[in-house]
Amino acid sequence: MRMYDIIHKKRLGKELSEEEINFFVEGFTKGDIPDYQASAFAMAIMFQGMTDRETSALTMAMAESGDTVDLSMLGKLSVDKHSTGGVGDKTTLIVAPIVASLGAKVAKMSGRGLGHTGGTVDKLEAINGYKTTLSPNDFIKQVEKIGIAVIGQSGNLAPCDKKLYALRDVTATVESIPLITSSIMSKKIAAGSHSIVLDIKTGSGAFMKTSEEAEELGRKMVDIGKACGRNIAALITDMDTPLGYNIGNALEVKEAISVLRGEYKGDLRIVCEALAANMVELSLGYDSLTSEKMVKDSLDSGKAYEKFKEWIAEQGGDISQIEDISLLPTATYVHDIVSPCDGYIDSMNAESIGLTSVLLGAGRKNKDDVIDMSAGIVLCKKNGDRVKKGDVLAYLHTSCMENISSAEAMFLSSVKFSDAPTSLPPLIYKIIK
Ligand code: URA
Repeated sequence: MRMYDIIHKKRLGKELSEEEINFFVEGFTKGDIPDYQASAFAMAIMFQGMTDRETSALTMAMAESGDTVDLSMLGKLSVDKHSTGGVGDKTTLIVAPIVASLGAKVAKMSGRGLGHTGGTVDKLEAINGYKTTLSPNDFIKQVEKIGIAVIGQSGNLAPCDKKLYALRDVTATVESIPLITSSIMSKKIAAGSHSIVLDIKTGSGAFMKTSEEAEELGRKMVDIGKACGRNIAALITDMDTPLGYNIGNALEVKEAISVLRGEYKGDLRIVCEALAANMVELSLGYDSLTSEKMVKDSLDSGKAYEKFKEWIAEQGGDISQIEDISLLPTATYVHDIVSPCDGYIDSMNAESIGLTSVLLGAGRKNKDDVIDMSAGIVLCKKNGDRVKKGDVLAYLHTSCMENISSAEAMFLSSVKFSDAPTSLPPLIYKIIK
């Protein structure tokens, strides 16, 4: 078999066989197939697409290209969740302890922040002592013991995807539904959970800018997950505006704690309840109404909060910072941004608000940058809110004032005002099962 012929066949729009896809994945992972051929192959897929059979074969081959996690000892109780990434998205910190408090087993590998979007592992590192690396044995033992462990992704999970994604990033071949589907699903399949709930974000701060694109991606990912023998559902959720009010690592941990303590009732709680209920339904087998009720009870009774503390303590985190959130990293400077006019908030561009938080130090501009855990933004107003000239719109938190005026300008340019309230988009567009 020759890679040239495989690229040529895909360029003509023909369906590749499983053997041909395996040949590419094995050869590229080992380094026998050069980057230029892999890039040409990705471009051919970008233009010609892939059938579901090809996408499943690519997903399985990439999942098996490196380490796989065996969670079979957890039976059907293991459940994972994946978000396509957003601004202020701290849902894992909330839904993982909720579902673990109800008997599901969450063995989760999470990522770091990318571009304008935050990452769960960075957020957890805002807590002193929290270990984001555990040996495979300790990881499984912890899940068996307390129902939850969240660590950073192992270096050798789906290595073919890692190499291919790096190439796609620089060859304009990211936005292909079969390539995104196989990239995300290969990692989820390799991570071993029997059930998977996907949170596919749509809007200005998301990868998928329209709900139609997000739905198409969700449908494909659900089909592929089922073809690979997983229980799976996808929620299409709004990321036109940041989720919740806090953006930035320690600030997001604080907001997650307020949801877990039952103090916060807004958009963030609603999205978390929907994600958690779907995880409970898939992994524990309850119907949807019962699952929703169980999730609300877990939050309102404090069970989820107790599970959160147990999880953080088990992974070495300092519980005193959870019980007293003023002990979490706090910025040296807090700068308020006031409204330049009277009116209503019409929209807040989530991507540019995410980039504002990166300017303040909450994210990385380069791979090796050190994050300021205390940096970020606390929103005081959100879409639909009435504002008067001079009202505080947001507080910028940072330990370095160097970028404060550009951050303020960027924040203000991301907010649009209107004279009358406009209708808000739905928080949850669709649930695909
Ligand atoms: N995230 C991934 O892991 N892969 C993609 O292709 C896109 C987003």
